[in-house]
Amino acid sequence: KPNHQQHQSWLSARPMPQSAQSLSTSRDLYERDFPLYKQPVEVGSFSLDSERRFFNDSRQLRYYVEPEKSPHFHLRDGYGDRYIKRDESVKEKLDHILRWILANRTKLTRRAEASSSSGFDVDFVTWRGHLTKLLTTPYETREGWLLAVTKFKGTLYVSEVETDAARRDRETRTGRHQEMMYWGYKFEQFMCADMVDGSPDSSGVVNTNEAFCTVVQTRLSDHRLLFSGEVDCRDKDPNAAAPPACYVELKTSAEISTPKQRSTFYRFKLLKWWAQSFLPGVPRVVAGFRDDDGVVISVETFHISKISRLIKAEDRCWKPTVCMNFCSDFLTFVKCVVTEDDPRVVYLFCWNPRCDVTYSVHRDSSYSFLPDWYVREMS
Ligand code: A3P
Ligand code: MG
Ligand code: MG
Repeated sequence: KPNHQQHQSWLSARPMPQSAQSLSTSRDLYERDFPLYKQPVEVGSFSLDSERRFFNDSRQLRYYVEPEKSPHFHLRDGYGDRYIKRDESVKEKLDHILRWILANRTKLTRRAEASSSSGFDVDFVTWRGHLTKLLTTPYETREGWLLAVTKFKGTLYVSEVETDAARRDRETRTGRHQEMMYWGYKFEQFMCADMVDGSPDSSGVVNTNEAFCTVVQTRLSDHRLLFSGEVDCRDKDPNAAAPPACYVELKTSAEISTPKQRSTFYRFKLLKWWAQSFLPGVPRVVAGFRDDDGVVISVETFHISKISRLIKAEDRCWKPTVCMNFCSDFLTFVKCVVTEDDPRVVYLFCWNPRCDVTYSVHRDSSYSFLPDWYVREMS
């Protein structure tokens, strides 16, 4: 009897939760049928120029040029003298997407509810890269994340906050690591032309401020999503499928020569490549495999729709359904938690490997990320 009594009082002493306080990231919880994921539709695009200025057009879109099978591209070339690096300490948050939304408001359907008449018909606005992090969370063992969420006129805006660990890593990168980051962009220069009938110009400057971004709309379960992601290039055939199906993602990776290297590539790298391109509906990744001196030895195409079959033979491998179900459940969790509709209120979702997702609430803090110009214009 006393035991029972104790149990009762413990139960009644607990605040009755309106919604859960945390979300598990344990893989086995998400091994169910693949959720609905509608074919992403491109609703627009924008460009960022060499000085990171926004343009509501596709001026930075480049064209994919088929390379030789073994091209011997020297990716170290130009690192010392033809490289302009974007300042990663400048946090742009969702600003470019918000600029795109303001410039294209008439293209977005108005919300039906009279209470939020100036809002639009989307549940979540975010970067593709933030969603990629969510998809890979059940398999991530090293890096945690922080996602700030604000509800404004019925829409949930999701913007990443750099963790202390990520900031430390960024500020203490080795010279070798910094050079290897350049290699990825240099590979793009070898593979892309600025004009539809042009050829790549590897004698030019690599400027990582420049970007072309697609804006897509889709639905995951009952979550209507609007997100943007950077696109490397497109098929130059004018009769190619409409965007995003004509887009090509470019990647570099260390050449694979042992079974262990192959297994690591399948289990970790292909997961990230798949998640990044599956989300916006980009159908293929063209990979340049390079040696330790940054020379591309071979080029191989991976079709996103074939990756899940490719990895099945690998043991302890990842499953697309786990990634998508976790993302869907996380967005449901966010909808339950984020109830106050106020541009100055931020719900900060925090996750670290081997932990559950938790959150905290911040009013008028440095976490607020919706700029005044956006709030004013949308009001
Ligand atoms: P690789 O992925 O070929 O190494 P993306 O492939 O997404 O278009 O990015 C282009 C390049 O930017 C990458 O080329 C890599 O060099 C660099 N890059 C992308 N994401 C990064 C990150 N999170 N940290 C460091 N470098 C990154
Ligand atoms: Mg890119
Ligand atoms: Mg790329």
